[in-house]
Amino acid sequence: MTKEEKLQQFNARIKEVLITEEEIRAAIKKAGEYIDSLYDGQPILLVSILKGAFVFMADVCRAVSVPSEVGFMCAKSYYEGTKSSGVVKITMDLDRDISGYHVVILEDIIDTGRTLNDIAKVLKARNPLSLRVVTLLDKPSRRVVDFKADMSLFTIPDYFVIGYGLDCAEKYRGLPYVAVYEE
Ligand code: IMP
Ligand code: MG
Repeated sequence: MTKEEKLQQFNARIKEVLITEEEIRAAIKKAGEYIDSLYDGQPILLVSILKGAFVFMADVCRAVSVPSEVGFMCAKSYYEGTKSSGVVKITMDLDRDISGYHVVILEDIIDTGRTLNDIAKVLKARNPLSLRVVTLLDKPSRRVVDFKADMSLFTIPDYFVIGYGLDCAEKYRGLPYVAVYEE
């Protein structure tokens, strides 16, 4: 296959733009204002769940005006059959004690809700001053555990989406918009 054919195949999977760069920018501003409003003089720690939320973190942390720090975590959840909750394995953990922080988890997408439900439990057990969740995307129709974000920027139908950090087999994370993936 030629270079051009490979590129064409890559681009053909981008079915349609679901959320534009402008729409994302406006929503990020709102997320920044929401996080600013949580500030009570105690430090805020923004926690991004890798890899999907790395782009979201980069934009949100620059939209926040109050003192904040950033932290990164990588986690994988394992489930057997139809169990709605599993064991979350933290493959990369935060580098500090969170007990003196207001923690805001920044997630790319909530689908079944399992991953965040597990991560929230783990972080709550570490006694932060408070724990909140801000998600870029939410697919409520796919939920298997009752999990609600404190702020959800876009509610989307049951599409598989790519871009703005979200991948399909590790590709398309660098698209500046959110698009529907062509199966
Ligand atoms: P949950 O535990 O089912 O809520 O899983 C959420 C995780 O699944 C997200 O952090 C994503 O990594 C991945 N995911 C769910 N839906 C999509 C999608 O439409 N595109 C890309 N990744 C997705
Ligand atoms: Mg993810």
